[in-house]
This record gives sequence, structure tokens and C-alpha cells, in this order.
Amino acid sequence: MEQAREEFLTYTKTYLNLGLGKAIKLKIDHTLRVMNLCEEIARRKKLSSEEIELAKLCGLLHDIARFEQYKRYQTFVDSKSIDHGDLGVKILKDHDFIRKFSKEKKFDSVILKVVKYHNKYLLPKDLTTKERLFCNLVKDADKIDILYLYAIEEVSLPMDQESFSEEVFNQLKKEQLVDRSILKTKVDRLAISLGFVFDIAFWESMDILREKDYINQEIEVYEQKGISKKLREQLEEMRIIIQNYMKRRAEDVR
Ligand SMILES: [Fe+2]
Repeated sequence: MEQAREEFLTYTKTYLNLGLGKAIKLKIDHTLRVMNLCEEIARRKKLSSEEIELAKLCGLLHDIARFEQYKRYQTFVDSKSIDHGDLGVKILKDHDFIRKFSKEKKFDSVILKVVKYHNKYLLPKDLTTKERLFCNLVKDADKIDILYLYAIEEVSLPMDQESFSEEVFNQLKKEQLVDRSILKTKVDRLAISLGFVFDIAFWESMDILREKDYINQEIEVYEQKGISKKLREQLEEMRIIIQNYMKRRAEDVR
């Protein structure tokens, strides 16, 4: 695993050296935190040591296409450039690049499925149990880290609208992950991040999120800004809905 990490740092260094600004550094840091979160979730799930290593490797490689995407398009928005999950699979397959990260071919299908599907709204039905486990694990870790970035205000949103659009807010109130295709305004991106909670697959991940308290921190960050009364009310409503949802999930499994 240490070798895979080194390989990743070597690969991304060439992009760092292109002088594309801090975007590349942010994605490297995100990737390393996601890798650690994958390890943490895998440990809490009491997976085997081989599976814990595989979880870390999946976390390390999930966003491998972000660097090429940014180099080509100077954006991380897939809809304006390229699907970074699909591009990641291509990058890893080209010249058998994946072998630099794992000598063992037996993990390829899991790794490639994780990379391809981690950014999709739904996972396909035909995944094996193992593929599904690791896809969900990485998706959970990815979401926890994005919520962390919102909580520490690393993601700043221009307030282009006074409140969440009705359609988006209704989906949130139904305790659903917001579908990106109905996103209308920049403020709606905040709603999307809150909706991540409803898509967390494992209670172990939910526990981490609750312990870290990112949702409350994120809501507070925005409430401290000069936001409209309506958005404040929407955020408070969401705070309660999310608290109840988390509590219910915790009770369901124990
Ligand atoms: Fe990603």
C-alpha cells in the first residue's frame, strides 16, 4: 500500500508541476483523506486486513481522473467536461497503469467498478456483493470528506439565490439524495451536500459523520453569513430532519 501511495504521489506531481493552481493540491489532499476514511470505515466494519488494504487502495484511486480532467478542462464539473468515473477507468486500463498500484489482478474488477461508479447517482444492479461493498464504502468516505470541506468552509458558495429551490428542498424533506439534474442555483449545491446524509450506506459511516458533527458545523457556517430568513428557516428545518434521520438509522441497526 505504501508503494501505491508513492506511485499516486509521483503521478500527481506531474500535474502539480503544470502550475494549474491550488485545485490539484486540493484533490490530492481530498484523496488522501478519503483513503484514510476508507480505512476507518473498513476497520469499524471489521473487514479482514486484506480487505482493509483494498478499501484504502480504492480510496486512493477513486478520483484518479480528476487531475487529467482539470488539465484538459480546468473544471471539476463533470457535466461541463467529462465523467471522471469513466475517465478514471480508462486511465487505469491504459498501458495497464493499474498494475503500478496493485500487483494482484484479482482486485481489478472491484477497483475499476469503484472508480467508475463512485460518482454515479445509483449503483447498477448487477454488481457482485464484494463490488457493491467497496463501491458503497468509497462513496461514504467521499461524502464524509465533502461534508468536511463544507464544514471548514473550504467550499465557498456565491449566494445567487435567497433560498433552496422548491423542487430541491422537497426532495431533501423526503430524506432523499438530491438528483443533480434538478439543481438550479448555486445555493442548491448546499442542499445537495446536506442530502448526502440520506445516501450514506453504512451505519459505521454515519457514526463517523455524527461524531465529527460536520452537518451542524456546515449549517452554522452558512447561518453566520448574511443569509435570507427563508434560507435560515430551511436550514433549521433540515437540521432537525437530519438529526432525526441519523437517530433513526442508529436505532435501526442496533
Ligand atoms: Fe470523485
